[in-house]
Amino acid sequence: MGIRSGRNVRALLSPFIFFISFFSFQFCTAIDTITPTQYIRDPETIISDGEKFKLGFYSPNNSTNRYVGIWYNKITGPTIIWVANRENPLTDSSGVMKIADDGNLVVLDGQQNILWSTNVSNPSKNSSAILLNFGNLVLQEGNSGDGINNQRVLWQSFEHPLDTFIPKMKIGTNPKTNENILLRSSKSDSNPSTGGFSVGIGSLNIPQVFIWNGSRPYWRSGPWNNQIFIGVSDMYSVYLNGFNLFRDAQEGSAYLTFSFVNESLLSKFILNSQGTLSQKDWDDEMKEWVLAWLTPEKECDIYGKCGPFGSCNALDSPICSCLRGFKPKFIEEWSKGNWTSGCVRRTQLLCEGNNTSGEVGKEDGFLKLKMMKVPDYANWISGEDVAECENLCLRNCSCVALAYDSGIGCMSWSGNLIDIQKFSMGGVDLYIRVANSELGMIFVFLLI
Ligand SMILES: *[C@@H]1O[C@H](CO)[C@@H](O)[C@H](O)[C@H]1NC(C)=O
Ligand SMILES: *[C@@H]1O[C@H](CO)[C@@H](O)[C@H](O)[C@H]1NC(C)=O
Ligand SMILES: *[C@@H]1O[C@H](CO)[C@@H](O)[C@H](O)[C@H]1NC(C)=O
Ligand SMILES: *[C@@H]1O[C@H](CO)[C@@H](O)[C@H](O)[C@H]1NC(C)=O
Ligand SMILES: *[C@@H]1O[C@H](CO)[C@@H](O)[C@H](O)[C@H]1NC(C)=O
Ligand SMILES: *[C@@H]1O[C@H](CO)[C@@H](O)[C@H](O)[C@H]1NC(C)=O
Ligand SMILES: *[C@@H]1O[C@H](CO)[C@@H](O)[C@H](O)[C@H]1NC(C)=O
Ligand SMILES: *[C@@H]1O[C@H](CO)[C@@H](O)[C@H](O)[C@H]1NC(C)=O
Ligand SMILES: *[C@@H]1O[C@H](CO)[C@@H](O)[C@H](O)[C@H]1NC(C)=O
Ligand SMILES: *[C@@H]1O[C@H](CO)[C@@H](O)[C@H](O)[C@H]1NC(C)=O
Repeated sequence: MGIRSGRNVRALLSPFIFFISFFSFQFCTAIDTITPTQYIRDPETIISDGEKFKLGFYSPNNSTNRYVGIWYNKITGPTIIWVANRENPLTDSSGVMKIADDGNLVVLDGQQNILWSTNVSNPSKNSSAILLNFGNLVLQEGNSGDGINNQRVLWQSFEHPLDTFIPKMKIGTNPKTNENILLRSSKSDSNPSTGGFSVGIGSLNIPQVFIWNGSRPYWRSGPWNNQIFIGVSDMYSVYLNGFNLFRDAQEGSAYLTFSFVNESLLSKFILNSQGTLSQKDWDDEMKEWVLAWLTPEKECDIYGKCGPFGSCNALDSPICSCLRGFKPKFIEEWSKGNWTSGCVRRTQLLCEGNNTSGEVGKEDGFLKLKMMKVPDYANWISGEDVAECENLCLRNCSCVALAYDSGIGCMSWSGNLIDIQKFSMGGVDLYIRVANSELGMIFVFLLI
């Protein structure tokens, strides 16, 4: 069959579809919709209007299980971007995807067991599912040919991602509705069921992207400054300014998307079964996905590698050192390369000291560290510049560090400083509060 427009074919056929579906689905391969009267049976597929994406049954490499997935229509492989029945595969080719009597989109096996459902509590009896040309599968009320424009959206695959993030998808969270959209890794290349890693948005006051291993952070992007994540050192050079973070202050929600002005550029982020997040771009000449970026790339990228008040520098050996003014908590453990306990302050801050000596101490000050990945758990404070941040911080004894970024403003930290990295490019200036005598020591150090 030649190239043809799915929209036109469907418009032409729609009055007859009821009849045609009784005989053969073959005529309808360019159809993009599943309706109460028109379903797909393994190995049939539907194709988006525009022919960019295809939905149908597939088997992963090295597996005979059957899954309903979405993939790029014109890229051989196939490159799967989404799977419906990731937890409940078919073991034979008896599968069907259809609109159930209650209006949900379901995957059934040959015995009519429901292997997967959109699970909408009050779906329209008259719903239909349409595969849109940017890869989103939408369950909508009614089945008119107007796409989702005039229809109530009941469910969409872009809000239930697998391990792949493509343009116009979103991840993020709304604490008020308890919605939390995460990428979730697969168990392996041959088994798409949910694995141990996830990617999402955390720390909503100053949003950051996290990779979690179970519930433990595994990697952190650093704060969003309305253009980039300041804890990703190569974000200036790699990204095409394609990220957008939408926040609703009232709801307290934050959602991240990405897109390119040139919609024919294909790019995706995938979270693999080992917890590595990578960006791959389609090279149309080479006909392959090319790695553009990945994380964690170095040991230093792993969350909290050097423990509290430790700083990681991939160019140093060993990679971990204590922040200036700090010393290893357990020197023996630390020198053996076990950095988990981190570092402690060498000289007590004036503000936390006891005045038994009766001496009038000198005020604490700040050490400036350049090109840093700032620690986790930033608080936002309302300073206009570094000097104002310093004043605010000095007044509060629990403030132990600060940083200023023009897109964010003042960030301050209390408690343990965790997941700090020294970059060789990018990053921001981080100011660490230390006792006055530690400032002097640096001065002496510089004179030597
Ligand atoms: C299938 O499994 C074999 C053995 O585990 C492996 O060597 C091969 O790379 C796998 N094939 C694909 C396409 O993943
Ligand atoms: C199977 O492996 C090939 C080669 O690695 C890859 O291009 C293709 O996308 C894989 N197929 C599936 C269904 O994952
Ligand atoms: C559908 O909802 C029920 C009840 O909330 C839940 O037990 C079931 O796991 C859900 N199924 C899917 C596929 O999400
Ligand atoms: C289902 O929706 C279509 C389009 O919105 C409409 O033409 C049709 O009458 C509806 N059928 C029922 C039973 O509501
Ligand atoms: C993820 O967590 C599990 C369980 O805590 C652990 O065994 C595994 O090593 C962790 N994986 C990585 C890559 O850190
Ligand atoms: C968009 O990207 C495609 C594929 O790389 C390229 O061929 C085309 O020239 C680009 N269009 C524009 C306007 O840059
Ligand atoms: C590192 O030190 C921590 C804390 O003392 C301890 O729990 C852990 O077992 C040590 N890890 C290794 C690999 O020795
Ligand atoms: C108070 O100061 C004395 C003398 O400098 C010191 O020995 C003691 O440890 C300090 N107490 C605390 C709680 O820091
Ligand atoms: C210790 O004494 C200095 C000077 O008198 C004073 O500024 C400071 O607030 C005192 N600290 C505490 C913890 O009382
Ligand atoms: C001091 O800082 C802590 C931690 O950032 C904060 O919880 C507390 O409200 C601050 N206190 C004052 C008086 O600003």
